[in-house]
Formats: sequence, C-alpha cells, structure tokens
Amino acid sequence: MIISKSLTFAEEMKDTMTQPLILHAYDPDEMIYVAENILKKFPDQRIFTLTGDLGAGKTTFVKALAKELGIDENISSPTFSIVHEYGSGDEIIYHFDLYRLKNELELFEIGFEEYLDGEHYVLIEWPELAQKFLPEQYVSLKFEVEDENSRRIICSIENA
Ligand SMILES: Nc1ncnc2c1ncn2[C@@H]1O[C@H](COP(=O)(O)OP(=O)(O)O)[C@@H](O)[C@H]1O
Ligand SMILES: [Mg+2]
Repeated sequence: MIISKSLTFAEEMKDTMTQPLILHAYDPDEMIYVAENILKKFPDQRIFTLTGDLGAGKTTFVKALAKELGIDENISSPTFSIVHEYGSGDEIIYHFDLYRLKNELELFEIGFEEYLDGEHYVLIEWPELAQKFLPEQYVSLKFEVEDENSRRIICSIENA
C-alpha cells in the first residue's frame, strides 16, 4: 500500500512537470489551501511569477503563502516600493510588485539578480520586465477571475 501510494505521488509530480496544475479558490480565505498545495507540489522551487489582471488575487496569494510558512506579519501590496520583505531567519519572502517599474535598469539598481540567487522565496507580480533575469527554472502562477469570489490558478514549471 505504501509503495503504491508513493508511486502515485511520483506520478503526480511527473504530471506537474509536464501539465499545469489547476487550483481554485472559491473565496479569499481559500487562498491558504492554494498556497498549501503549491508548497506541496513544488517543494524545491523558490521563484514564482504571478500574472493576472488587477484584482485577480496575486497579493492575496502572497499573504496566504506567508501565513502558510508561519510568517505572521501584516502584508500589504507594495505599491510604492518595488520589493517588500516578510519574515526573518530561514523563512523569508521577497515580494516584488513590478507594476510601476519603468525599465529593467531599476532592477539592476536594486540588485534584483542577488535576490534570485539567494535561497529565499521570491514572488514577482507583473514579471514581464524581469523576464531576462529569471533562472532556467521557476514556477509560473496564472491567476484568473472566474466570478466575484472565485479564482482559478494555473501552476506550471517554466523552462523545465
Ligand atoms: N477567491 C478569491 N481569491 C482571492 N481574492 C479574492 C477572491 N474572491 C474575491 N477576492 C478579492 O479580490 C481581490 C484580490 O486583490 P489582490 O489580491 O490585491 O489582487 P492582485 O494582487 O492580483 O491585483 C481582493 O479584494 C479579494 O478580497
Ligand atoms: Mg497585487
């Protein structure tokens, strides 16, 4: 039984490498389950891009992930600074919101590459201008609005 269970898990992991994992949050509080599932599915990944329209739930997800990692801080959307840091010690999340970024030069100036080279979580909202800095492998999370309280999150490993 145990062997067949672990085989099933291995199969699931293999699927995730090739096929996207699709998750749902039917209200904002359910983002915690989305975060839990994503941590389970991508235990070795630290870099996540978050795409989707304004209000699609990207920042809500970052808050949920922090909570799931035991980081107990009030997280707000980093509207005016490009990067916010949450947590301490081993469990740190660097949350980038590049919505207002004008060009790639600003990323050089803040040492974006060093964040990516570190061992901590790096979550990037509006990652378009960061594309050429990204490593060979990272997790892409696409947030879609289904209706007022429902969101669909499509998760896949990029460049795997
Ligand atoms: N299932 C859901 N998951 C996440 N947010 C939801 C959900 N349903 C409604 N919302 C609302 O949608 C908004 C999402 O905002 P936010 O996370 O800041 O989006 P983004 O960062 O993508 O612009 C919040 O007001 C949140 O309460
Ligand atoms: Mg946001």
